[in-house]
Amino acid sequence: NASLGKNAEDSGHYIGASVRWDPLADNEKYKDLLVEEFSSLTVENEMKMEAVQPEPGSYSFQKADDIVETAEQNGMKVRGHPLVWGEALPDWVHEKVVDEQSAKAVLKDHVQAMAGHYSGRVQEWDVVNEAWNDDGSYRETIWFEYIGPEYIPLAFEWAREADPEAKLYYNDYGNEMKNEKTDAMFEALSRWKNDGVPIDGIGMQTHIDAADPRFSREKMQENFKRWEAAGFETAVTEMDVKLQNLDAPREERLQAQADIYADVTSVCMEETSCSGLTVWGVGDAESWVTGQESESGEPLLFDSSWEMKPAYDRMKRTFIFN
Ligand code: G3I
Repeated sequence: NASLGKNAEDSGHYIGASVRWDPLADNEKYKDLLVEEFSSLTVENEMKMEAVQPEPGSYSFQKADDIVETAEQNGMKVRGHPLVWGEALPDWVHEKVVDEQSAKAVLKDHVQAMAGHYSGRVQEWDVVNEAWNDDGSYRETIWFEYIGPEYIPLAFEWAREADPEAKLYYNDYGNEMKNEKTDAMFEALSRWKNDGVPIDGIGMQTHIDAADPRFSREKMQENFKRWEAAGFETAVTEMDVKLQNLDAPREERLQAQADIYADVTSVCMEETSCSGLTVWGVGDAESWVTGQESESGEPLLFDSSWEMKPAYDRMKRTFIFN
């Protein structure tokens, strides 16, 4: 009855969780569950630009370094997240970035400082995060505004220069199945990849609402296969499943949540292109969903007292049957 991580290892995949610095420093239960159950971690906030580059050109890696060390001491993989995003930016970016030249200079310096600092220690990087809107148009981030869509391939090239080894991922939400957003992404990313841009993989965040009727295991699998056929790796990068919108008794809602965890896990375990699955937090107490006003989505594998939920058991059973 080994841990989730051990079970998945046998089939060549990792199981990860996103991690925050605060509970890691002061909550032993959190740390124990993390290192016992998971074989990979993603740094949830401490590698974001506002956290690591609070002043122009002045980097503070300490908290992210602490998390990476925890992974290394416990034989876990590390997913770095994210090098380029339109959110979680320090205020100074809006003063320094005023045209194409300054945007490229700031972005290149950031990407290369990060990828260089963690070279050899991060196995997968989310190089660009959330660049498309749901309708398939480009998201109007500050990088898009001054550089245009070219900021995406440039970021991958800069990252590869600074770290030749790490797998370089594009990461987004709402791209788990085929739709307008995924189609736009597929068109652009496969075109750039064919032109030689070093894009290795596609991260599907997989923030799901258990009440969303659009979720389908078959459609998800079909989408994973499309990326694989175009030469990409895949990964489930930020999985969680909200409970509260489902109109059913609590026990049934927990089972429905567990079913979705099992479905997504089995898709990843069956696809050789899928490197692994990461859940977005260790337990409900620390989930970003719980932190949102008026939400108690209870979206993770362990409850607010760190007890295993039905989702945990169902996820583990999918390894046995794979
Ligand atoms: O660290 C400060 C703390 O000092 C302060 O007291 C507190 C008061 O608000 O805020 C703390 O920072 C918050 C941080 O989480 C740590 O808890 C930020 O305000 C808050 O905006 C931040 O939210 C994070 C969010 O990304 C924005 O960066 C969530 O934890 C994190 O789970 C979420 O993760 C994103 C992925 O990066 C991208 N995909 C979607 C996913 C969920 O939104």
